Amino acid sequence: MSLRFLTAGESHGERLTVILDGIPAGLTLREEDLVADLRRRQGGHGRGGRMAIEQDAAHIVAGVRGGLTLGSPITLEIANRDWENWRQVMAVDPAEVKRKPITRVRPGHADLAGMLKYGADDARDVLERASARETAARVAAGGVAKLLLKEFGILVRSYTHAVGAIKCQAGASVDWATVESSPVRCPDAKAGAAMVAAIDAAREHGDTLGGVFTVIAEGVPPGLGSYRQWDTRLDGLLAQAIVSIPACKAVAIGDGVVGASLPGSEVHDVPVYENERLGHETNRAGGLTGGVSNGEPLVVHGYMKPISTLLKPLATVDLKTKEPARAHYERSDICVVPAAGVVGEAMVALVLAGAVLEKFGGDSLPELRRNVEGYLAKVRA
Ligand SMILES: Cc1cc2nc3c(=O)[nH]c(=O)nc-3n(C[C@H](O)[C@H](O)[C@H](O)COP(=O)(O)O)c2cc1C
Repeated sequence: MSLRFLTAGESHGERLTVILDGIPAGLTLREEDLVADLRRRQGGHGRGGRMAIEQDAAHIVAGVRGGLTLGSPITLEIANRDWENWRQVMAVDPAEVKRKPITRVRPGHADLAGMLKYGADDARDVLERASARETAARVAAGGVAKLLLKEFGILVRSYTHAVGAIKCQAGASVDWATVESSPVRCPDAKAGAAMVAAIDAAREHGDTLGGVFTVIAEGVPPGLGSYRQWDTRLDGLLAQAIVSIPACKAVAIGDGVVGASLPGSEVHDVPVYENERLGHETNRAGGLTGGVSNGEPLVVHGYMKPISTLLKPLATVDLKTKEPARAHYERSDICVVPAAGVVGEAMVALVLAGAVLEKFGGDSLPELRRNVEGYLAKVRA
């Protein structure tokens, strides 16, 4: 694997850590380059109180010297400000730790499966790692991947396509300035306002909402990924990356879902040669055919289930008493689709950066650039 990363850290632990291995030497990387995406992940109408406490920033502790990557593993740390309020609950030292076991498992969360798996009698031991706080570390790593991709003119962005039953009606071209100024990251102002109202109504009813985010990567060269084996197909790698986002339950590449109910004549993208460029009349395939990028923008949709911690808790079983009970509640988000889109960008960027390194190789940025440019010159010819 050309690029890989590992994260560590509990939701209310001292900090999150991520080690990103495989970024070539010579890439400009400063801590301030990673702040914007971390803040975007914290935002979006529908987040809970936790995000008002945190001010995420990544501290670079390894892999960079004088503002340039060294080719060695890059290690980033994100402090959890809320840890100050959880020092005793999360204490490492057995003499200090304060336990108040959570046994009323939340339907839809990892509590029950995690407790059975690890033999835990306190859902705290499960939810601290299952929590999507971990995705802040992914966004930091994804920020580095985005910087590498930018060197080759590849741009990865996202928007909110749906919240609950409200769908964005934006056409093929997305107004990214509107997305970034929208409280729900929606390019369609009317739908955006309806999404905000729907989230407020859900909050009032003690309920939660899911939805759909869309990630678009532009400037992706043809030829990334391969149909050589099942695990080299770029569509499969992207699908895993997207569905690995907590609460993301389905993925579609391009018009994959819509196309399943249409005849072939209305689905397939016809190749065209115009202005000395080979392209396609449409991009229903979302930039991927045969698990290989085909030169069109990559379009991936992630489908989020509603958040499982409800202010009006659902029925459950208390694992201690085995009696029926109401599920545990702790401060929680109402809707995270806008934030999940930012995590989706990070995951797509990490997969794409891996695919670029896999195809072109190179231990330094100049070496990688030579390889990319040599290939592109041949493709363009
Ligand atoms: C950005 C983000 C924030 C989330 N915040 C919460 C939350 O506040 N409360 C909650 O119950 N679930 C939240 N989730 C979802 C849970 O982490 C997820 O449902 C849980 O880990 C179980 O995993 P699964 O839904 O993938 O099966 C969030 C997900 C994301 C992507």
